[in-house]
Amino acid sequence: MRLLLTAGPTREAIDPVRYISNRSSGRMGYAIAAAAAARGHEVVLVTGPVAIPAPAPLADRVPVESAREMYDAVRDRIGGCDAAIFCAAVADYRPVQIAEQKIKKTGDRLTLELEKTEDILGSARLVFGFSGVLVGFAAETEQVETHARAKLEKKSCDLIVANDVSRPGVGFDAEENEVRLFFADGHAESLGRQSKAEIGQKLVEIVEGLVKGGRL
Ligand code: PMT
Repeated sequence: MRLLLTAGPTREAIDPVRYISNRSSGRMGYAIAAAAAARGHEVVLVTGPVAIPAPAPLADRVPVESAREMYDAVRDRIGGCDAAIFCAAVADYRPVQIAEQKIKKTGDRLTLELEKTEDILGSARLVFGFSGVLVGFAAETEQVETHARAKLEKKSCDLIVANDVSRPGVGFDAEENEVRLFFADGHAESLGRQSKAEIGQKLVEIVEGLVKGGRL
């Protein structure tokens, strides 16, 4: 199959030297990319800035910085893919204005006005017209199942991979992960704490099954 994957964080510029970002290391997304490539799939990896090496061989690796750049890269490449997995931790908000010069320390307080970024996963069906298998992640710190099921429905996904990111040692910037899978048919299952490489392999096998028309 041809698989589009997003991974890593985005950076939303405040001024020429500062940005808003998050703790995503890219490890989870890169592990999925490595597992898919090892199983002979064509992988298009749209990646935010990370400090880990790219898995090889990939069909395409597209480095981006901001949510807007990630949106454009996905929009231009998702057509023709059999499946898409959105693992990136995309910033939900960005500064309304990017200062042209480094902001000077003039007062005791500084207020930044933020605006919503593009919802890339939410655009997959409605804007990009993607009809392949659509997998989103949900990083939650509370009411994990409720929020994950809401995302599954709202974004018309086939599967949501829910990450309880309040737990130490899993999720953001960790070597391991522990996730719950919520399928569009209502079925749910858990992948207990294990390496991101192992979770990546299982997710790729599950997505292969969904592409073939079954749930696995
Ligand atoms: O990179 P690691 O350090 O290995 O950490 C892995 C991870 C914790 C980042 C990963 O497992 C994970 O949970 N990724 C999703 C992070 C996230 O931002 O979740 P969310 O619940 O805010 O977003 C829901 C979904 O919408 C995600 O598929 C996200 O990629 C997507 N999204 C979000 C915002 C936006 N503007 N566009 C999007 O496409």
